[in-house]
Amino acid sequence: MDSTENLTALLAMAQPGLYDDPFRSAHYLEMLWPHAVSRVTLQKALRKALQPREGVYIGIAFGAAAWQRFQPSFTPVQLQPFPRLEGKNGYAMPSTQSDIWFWIHGNDQGDVMDAVLQVHAAVRDVLIAQLDLNGFKNREERDLTGFVDGTANPKELQRVAAAQIPLGEAGAGGSYVLTQKWSHHLHTFNKLSEYEQEQVIGRTKHDNIELEGDDMPPTSHVSRTDVTVDGVGQKIWRRSTPYGNAEDHGLYFIAFACNLKRIRIQLDRMLGNTDDGYSDHLMRYSTAETGAYWFMPAEADLEAIL
Ligand code: HEM
Ligand code: MG
Repeated sequence: MDSTENLTALLAMAQPGLYDDPFRSAHYLEMLWPHAVSRVTLQKALRKALQPREGVYIGIAFGAAAWQRFQPSFTPVQLQPFPRLEGKNGYAMPSTQSDIWFWIHGNDQGDVMDAVLQVHAAVRDVLIAQLDLNGFKNREERDLTGFVDGTANPKELQRVAAAQIPLGEAGAGGSYVLTQKWSHHLHTFNKLSEYEQEQVIGRTKHDNIELEGDDMPPTSHVSRTDVTVDGVGQKIWRRSTPYGNAEDHGLYFIAFACNLKRIRIQLDRMLGNTDDGYSDHLMRYSTAETGAYWFMPAEADLEAIL
């Protein structure tokens, strides 16, 4: 069991911004680190990129290969590239694994953009952007489907237990991260009645109450992702935001976890790779277009390599 002291110690180790709320604006960069670019060159660029800025958090995380190249002295045991996942009914989650993830967020969109330009100016000759996406918070923290997102996230120190690698393990205080860009088919989702939409999500739309008993289908998103294994709730810490423009929009899903298996169990349950064989009906209305696993090191482990 995680004691309060252990969790408080872990909390102090995190990169700033892992928990802070609210933030209204975000920007995501997923970047490749070409082999021709040396570790020392990247190190110099990252020092510039990560200069602190008022009102904005610039978080950084690494893909498995990049972390091993950048910090050969330790690797979190479960760290691996995101594998393409396939499930029932033809559903799939692609892998678009790259090397470096920047998570830039704050309240003011202009301040966030200034930080994005700082990061980009520092790394543009060194890294190649694979994804360059702007995110925002919607009224009442609602996803573009109109449902409140984040309600069942753990609270207070439970967040730390869910999100950060425990003391004593390689990478302690850091997090495993999943990012996935989910593109919504709102024209189809919005044709459903409110009742049908609630059956897809597993909560009521207006009042955001979890469905109970027979009202909760096993194919709802909540049923697929609310999992207990050997008495342990497989909690993760979600920090997703909507993104997009008129044509192309959805959710940039972000989750931090103490353990990569928790995330994988949820993804397999969404895909229907389970004994019950149910897949998540949310996948009828939204498609995963990217997928990557990252290691977000604790602040001190980051400082040690910069
Ligand atoms: C819950 C939206 C993808 C994990 C929810 C809820 C909404 C939502 C509206 C209910 C409110 C809440 O508790 O936050 C979405 C959308 C997604 C998406 C629109 C993409 C199209 C994912 C993925 C995972 C995930 C990929 C796992 C890797 C969870 C978890 C919960 C949840 C753990 C809380 C379940 C509970 O304990 O009640 N999501 N989600 N979601 N989602 Fe997602
Ligand atoms: Mg529940």
